[in-house]
Amino acid sequence: MTKKYGLVGYPLGHSFSARFFAGKFSREGIDAVYENYELPQVDGLRQLVADTPGLSGLNVTIPHKRHVMPLLDALSPEAEAIGAVNVIRIERGAGGVRLTGYNSDALGFSRSIAPLLRPDHHAALVLGTGGASLAVVYVLHRLGVVPHCVSRTAAPGRLTYEDLTEEVMAAHTVVVNCSPVGMFPHVDEAPQIPYQWVTSAHLLYDLVYNPEETKFMRLGRERGAVVKNGLEMLRLQAMASWDIWNGRDKEADALPDEGKAKR
Ligand SMILES: NC(=O)c1ccc[n+]([C@@H]2O[C@H](COP(=O)([O-])OP(=O)(O)OC[C@H]3O[C@@H](n4cnc5c(N)ncnc54)[C@H](OP(=O)(O)O)[C@@H]3O)[C@@H](O)[C@H]2O)c1
Repeated sequence: MTKKYGLVGYPLGHSFSARFFAGKFSREGIDAVYENYELPQVDGLRQLVADTPGLSGLNVTIPHKRHVMPLLDALSPEAEAIGAVNVIRIERGAGGVRLTGYNSDALGFSRSIAPLLRPDHHAALVLGTGGASLAVVYVLHRLGVVPHCVSRTAAPGRLTYEDLTEEVMAAHTVVVNCSPVGMFPHVDEAPQIPYQWVTSAHLLYDLVYNPEETKFMRLGRERGAVVKNGLEMLRLQAMASWDIWNGRDKEADALPDEGKAKR
């Protein structure tokens, strides 16, 4: 039987994952299809799996990454610690269907940012407090970079954009944009950080990948910072999904031990 993979979320438009896997299956002669499954309510997940023979793996996107967790039979340690799932492995056996949740956003981000980290990158500003920032905070801890979230709303343990003084910017030489600000079509917008205090010591990493160079990246590049968009993370998380669906999750789960990844 042709294997099926797909994306659950709501609403779903054209997705990177559908294009990525259609290309992979055709290039590598893999007998499989990847489809979008729009689920307004995540409670419909197990019924979808029951009604779709051959469905072997799913990606999960907004708004279901957190609410899907109680519907699963098991979670990877990373997904449990992060509190969000974006990959589900589906195993069908005599005992029934077993669904296991993973977080490949964390794997993709870790593998993408690790080569850019230097020993002087001690602390990071993580802009935004949504699902993506949960995975980024988890990975930065593991990589030995202390993350501080920046939010539009003041709350204990968080900074606001108004708190970003010259001293704060100098102490946090990694800045990761985990907000959608600057994403197409709003390409003239950038997160409200004080760019005048960005220096060549900074690394500005944008999870946004469209446009290729966001205004956040351009402003950082003009101040001499190292900049990177989220496209590699997106590709790496898709590749990690494939490994997870095919039982190679032990490799895929291999995030570095805390503090060991810096060059
Ligand atoms: N490259 C990749 O592989 C990858 C993977 C996952 C996500 N992403 C991208 O990462 C971004 C965040 O994803 P997400 O799922 O976490 O999104 P989200 O939950 O919609 O938003 C993240 C956070 O951004 C902040 N935010 C939202 N609108 C804002 C605005 N107008 N101005 C300032 N801050 C704003 C909010 O934090 P506060 O309210 O606390 O300010 C919000 O919680 C999206 O652009 C997504 O496409 C990329």
